[in-house]
Amino acid sequence: MNAINAPSWIAVGRVADIPARGARVVRAPGGDIAVFRTGTDEVFALRDRCPHGAGPLSNGIVHGRSVTCPLHGMVFDLESGRTAGPDACTATSVPVRVVDGVIQIANPAFAEAAGA
Ligand code: FES
Repeated sequence: MNAINAPSWIAVGRVADIPARGARVVRAPGGDIAVFRTGTDEVFALRDRCPHGAGPLSNGIVHGRSVTCPLHGMVFDLESGRTAGPDACTATSVPVRVVDGVIQIANPAFAEAAGA
């Protein structure tokens, strides 16, 4: 892919489709993507696989600009994917934007983990 062709974006639904402090899963060839809506209507996206033990981050609790993994309680920053503390690890963040209330995921995110 060259700079002329990239990036392109794929619409995955409306912000209003996700409850405040909730998430929905977008299926992608490179792995499921968890799209989060905060209580202040910010939207973030992470791979739906916790780097600690593969927990589904989409089932986590959204608070502020963070999500707590449902399996062992690590707290991830929704923007960077990073945790804090001695066991720090990083979830894979996915480029996302909102245009006129529609959530768009960067097209390369759909294929990056599939080896494309
Ligand atoms: S699997 Fe997410 S904190 Fe362990």
